[in-house]
Amino acid sequence: MNWVVSAASASSVACHWLVVGVWEKSDLPAEASVLDKATHGAISELVKRGDITGKLAETVEILQAPGISAERICVLGLGDPATLTRAKLDKALMTVSRKLSTKAAVSVAILLPQGPMCGLAAETVAGCVATAFTVGCVGQGLYKAEADRHEFVGVTLLVSTGSVPESERGVATGRILGEATNLTRELVNRHPNDIYPETFALRMEQEAKRWGIACEVMDEPRIEAERMGSLLGVSRGSSRPPRVVLLRYQGAGAGKPWLSLVGKGVTFDSGGLSLKPSDSMKTMKCDMAGAATALGAITAIARLGLKVNVLMAAGLVENMPSGSAFMLGEILTARNGMTIEIMNTDAEGRLLLADVLSYVVDQGVDRIIDLATLTGACVVALGEEVTGVFSNDQSWCDQFLTGAQEVGEDAWQMPMFDSFAEQLKCDTADMKNIGTRWGGAITAAKFLEKFVSGKPWVHLDIAGPAFAESSKGHRDGGGTGAMVRTLVQVAKNFGDHSA
Ligand code: BES
Ligand code: MN
Ligand code: ZN
Repeated sequence: MNWVVSAASASSVACHWLVVGVWEKSDLPAEASVLDKATHGAISELVKRGDITGKLAETVEILQAPGISAERICVLGLGDPATLTRAKLDKALMTVSRKLSTKAAVSVAILLPQGPMCGLAAETVAGCVATAFTVGCVGQGLYKAEADRHEFVGVTLLVSTGSVPESERGVATGRILGEATNLTRELVNRHPNDIYPETFALRMEQEAKRWGIACEVMDEPRIEAERMGSLLGVSRGSSRPPRVVLLRYQGAGAGKPWLSLVGKGVTFDSGGLSLKPSDSMKTMKCDMAGAATALGAITAIARLGLKVNVLMAAGLVENMPSGSAFMLGEILTARNGMTIEIMNTDAEGRLLLADVLSYVVDQGVDRIIDLATLTGACVVALGEEVTGVFSNDQSWCDQFLTGAQEVGEDAWQMPMFDSFAEQLKCDTADMKNIGTRWGGAITAAKFLEKFVSGKPWVHLDIAGPAFAESSKGHRDGGGTGAMVRTLVQVAKNFGDHSA
């Protein structure tokens, strides 16, 4: 994909599609007006007829436009100028990007209203454009003979003369974020006989090598030597050996604090002996999204050269029923010595995360964020598009929430009352692995809290937002890459604070 930031006049740009942004219930922005004049009123005529309303993410195609070098125009609604947010802008841009990329070898130019859009700097807007045109042109049809979406051959972002340099910076950053999001999406979308612990670990190794990140892969004997009995319990029913993968990016130099990103990587969650019904099992290739999100984020952090130290750790296992599977009533001993009575083998994510969390704590990291498609209960609580946020440290939690808000991803803090931990009390072992049905996302978080030794920690339950059942106008079904951008922003802010 060839990217250009240009201050040329919109009517002179040769391309297949010229995307022009308009507001709802307002006059045409100055930039669109110029184009309207050049095309002898092609846009204002449609406004007059009521065919263009400017509603957010509305797209109206003008297939023949005289007087300009572009072959066609696509008018993009940006909604009410007073209430535009970064998330809304993303939605509009993703919609048009998805739409225009259904044909191969398409070139586009984009003309948005110039000047600050609701406080969004030109660099931010350019970043949103670059991310949306990188993500929106990649579909979920990985295994189709004929792709349903095609990379753009060229994208030209039209800006005012003064903002070319900052827009170029925005495009560079936005492309990296888009590619990182696509990496996460691709891995989540790969089927579970393609991505399993060994192949996932190999892929992580390749990505680490490609972007200059140090990588260490623990095989089964090494994991045994680490006494990760809780993770190994989950893995035992599978004929495929587990892996724990560590990626270290030291962008801030020695002596500076470390941020750890910990990901749940269950490459397929059948539920184990507590077998899931088919309907709940059919999308469980997505249960490694936490690990895929952490990987996407650290590749972007390294490519952007952020001044921050990051240790990514992923626990990769397959949860299967078999003659050797872990059993109900069985007691596992976690790496930190705590014993866990298994009351449901489908509550497996917390078991492997327990061992990986205690490992990164012992590595001396200063802040932790874990990501997991952990509970259906979190989807019941917050719906399919909101990340559940749980923490033992309000200041670290606030830093996380700020990052999420800055990039416009939806995340909501949940309570951590001790009454939920009481549900985990057990007569035979230090704890059991499930509580009652009610508030199950919180009980799961209270379980994880026991393994972070009081270190500032944020747990993200991404069971809803990581994977979409079906496509919408502004995003594809399948892996979504949710939280990749937020993690990069939080890492950037963390590096800035501790500089
Ligand atoms: N991977 C699932 C959670 C999940 C559900 C992810 C829906 C994505 C979409 C997790 O391992 C699981 O099975 N959780 C159980 C926990 C229960 C047994 C306490 C659940 O949510 O039912
Ligand atoms: Mn499960
Ligand atoms: Zn699971």
